[in-house]
Amino acid sequence: MNFIEGFSKFNKTQKINWLLDNMKVDQGTTLIETKYIDDALQKRFENFSENTIANFHLPFGIAPNFLINDKVYSIPMVTEESSVVAASCKAAKFWNEHGGFKAYTKSMTKVGHVYFTFDLSSEIIEKVFKDNIERLLNCTRAISLNMDKRGGGIKSLELLPLDKLSNTYKLELRVNTCDAMGANFINSLLEAMSAEFRKIVIENHFENHFEIIFAILSNYTPECLVEASVALNLNQINEIDGMSAQHFFSKFKKAVDIAKFDKFRATTHNKGIMNGVDSVVIATGNDFRATEAAAHSFACKDGIYKSLSEAEIVDHFFTFKLSLPLALGTVGGLTNLHPLASLSLDMLGKPSASELMQIAASVGLAQNFSAIRSLITTGIQKGHMKMHLLNILDQLGASVSQIEDAKKHFSDKVVSFQAVRDFLN
Ligand code: MEV
Repeated sequence: MNFIEGFSKFNKTQKINWLLDNMKVDQGTTLIETKYIDDALQKRFENFSENTIANFHLPFGIAPNFLINDKVYSIPMVTEESSVVAASCKAAKFWNEHGGFKAYTKSMTKVGHVYFTFDLSSEIIEKVFKDNIERLLNCTRAISLNMDKRGGGIKSLELLPLDKLSNTYKLELRVNTCDAMGANFINSLLEAMSAEFRKIVIENHFENHFEIIFAILSNYTPECLVEASVALNLNQINEIDGMSAQHFFSKFKKAVDIAKFDKFRATTHNKGIMNGVDSVVIATGNDFRATEAAAHSFACKDGIYKSLSEAEIVDHFFTFKLSLPLALGTVGGLTNLHPLASLSLDMLGKPSASELMQIAASVGLAQNFSAIRSLITTGIQKGHMKMHLLNILDQLGASVSQIEDAKKHFSDKVVSFQAVRDFLN
């Protein structure tokens, strides 16, 4: 492979041709067939990113019958993992019979910082900041006008030292971005503030002791927090999956507790939660890398990485809850531009950002419930491989009638690639 100059200036056909000529690929038609029929829509898609050569599909599924805060939702879920939607549906069905999910948004504040160095005494920069705080806030008025009108905007501005890094400080901006995820909004505020702060320092003749390092929002959003929970009186059910309710839920609690103390398990436990959360985040055109980053750093908030969910049994009363930071938006970004994201939001009844946070957290908890339910009873592979059966059959080129026969045959057997191949043979 050689370096290529000016690739970004090629048009799409030239890019595809270059790819076919220079790499061991011959699926030119596959790339072209991923196009939207509507040219304007296709163009819009291509503009989401750079050097776009195709649209990459993921399955868009639905988990109906989710009872959250006494309201029934059909939840759009985008995931490539075959058992995720089925697991959510199974948990939703179980909890519908026991009061459904309860979720509430604890807070919706986001943060951003301007990092800078200052090598004179901290009292000096604190005074400069204090004397000019109004000016720093005022310089962003034009940017935040619309957000202010919607009830959002800047909530506070503080100067904080970075204790472990000498001569290093941050301006910490706390913001309410209403129903927008607000990354661009926060970054624009920060960059305006950063330029104004620099001007102020120059006017005070401290420029030789000062340097702005950078300004950026934080994806750690512990003040943009949602909690979802389910609860059950164990006296109200006799058995679940062939176990007494008492035994099942005690074992369930033990499984959750293991993820509190063992980070190997905690990582997988939280991954299972994010299987559900991400599928809603992606379906609604939100930033799943941001939610992943926030979730995992929140999982370390007590100094060790641990489970995001917790289970309790007090006096025959079982509760299972999940708290996590979720900076989601229902306006702006891709939410309106991506036709399937906007369809997802319509399916959910055009929720506010806060409501969407509650929905995504409930799906995360549902997913966690189903994963642990399988783990402590049948093991995960039974359900997992059953869902994967179709993928294996597809890979082995099975005919329609073979697929139907295989589904019947494997309904009570363990699925593996070898077993499916043997069955087809
Ligand atoms: C698989 O994608 C997710 C699980 O491993 C989660 C878990 O173990 O809790 C099943």
